Amino acid sequence: MNVLVTGGAGYIGSHTVVELLNAGHEAVIVDDLSNAKADVIDRIETITGKRPAFHQIDCADGAALRRAFASCKIDAVIHFAGFKAVGESVRKPLQYYRNNLDSTMTLLEVMEEFGCKKFIFSSSATVYGPNNPHPYKEDMPAIQSSSPYGWTKVMIERILTDYVTAHPDFCAILLRYFNPIGAHESGLLGDDPNGIPNNLMPYIGRVAAGQLEKLTIFGGDYPTPDGTCQRDYLHVVDLAVGHLKALEYAADHTGAEAINLGTGHGISVLELVHAFETANQMKLPYVIGPRRDGDLPAFWADAQKAETILGWTATHSVEDMCRSSWEFARKSAEQ
Ligand code: WQD
Repeated sequence: MNVLVTGGAGYIGSHTVVELLNAGHEAVIVDDLSNAKADVIDRIETITGKRPAFHQIDCADGAALRRAFASCKIDAVIHFAGFKAVGESVRKPLQYYRNNLDSTMTLLEVMEEFGCKKFIFSSSATVYGPNNPHPYKEDMPAIQSSSPYGWTKVMIERILTDYVTAHPDFCAILLRYFNPIGAHESGLLGDDPNGIPNNLMPYIGRVAAGQLEKLTIFGGDYPTPDGTCQRDYLHVVDLAVGHLKALEYAADHTGAEAINLGTGHGISVLELVHAFETANQMKLPYVIGPRRDGDLPAFWADAQKAETILGWTATHSVEDMCRSSWEFARKSAEQ
């Protein structure tokens, strides 16, 4: 299949492109590099021995997107491109709604013009909002979120569902990710955000590399076994493989389908910190600080649906996640 991957130079996108190329598909990356580096394309080539086509364009630019679609027959789209910083979205809501919604709608319009009917969307567990009990199941109401970033995911899921109602021969798979961490085993691809990281694992990586002084754990008084928040961390390579499975499923199905991608188990921030220390034989300086606004105490996936309909389960251990994260952070710090 020829697969157009928006945001294909980003953290999850680049790992997915590697899995696509390794499975014999062709990948066409569309990325404006607003939060990714151009050398990711070279790194993908180093890992796979194949160079994906690359268009440095903004997904909301319809004319540029049309040129990318005209470059070869696109069979399916995986849509990662979007702003993703939760805290920033609270400060800049218009920017988030404009960018994330516009790019998705432009993409759908161009797909329609070119007769492309398979769409895999990068959604998030954030769509379950604060009121559902965990583990989260796909048939729970997913109509609420706690940040403009999260609301863009809720709204795009809605747009895709309505689009499928109007176009019953279209297939949209809404992949609801839990907390992806880890990096490619080559140490060449990983989560490398600009500036000070917001997410836990890239922050831990910079502390381990000595680039940041210590980790602050946000809250030690949650109603959880050790008082710190629990999340469902999954390896980014498992997540990338999940996209491949979704693509295979979409190839002979129509309709809209929401599917969780998580391990089905929660671990706490402290457990992750200790797993990182053990896996990499080091001590990580940390303090317990106040809670962060908007954090939920605990959630993880019910991972049954992904197994039943995609034949997908996460296979990497927490140790794999911690080791590969450190390998990538260490190499990045040396550059
Ligand atoms: C995990 C845990 C923090 C940083 C968010 C989005 C989600 C997805 C992934 C993506 C929490 C704690 C963190 C730190 C800490 N979006 N923490 N100290 O908030 O579960 O999910 O990112 O692009 O949609 O909502 O992930 O990695 O920020 O936090 O103690 O310096 O680590 O409180 O319990 P989160 P996270």
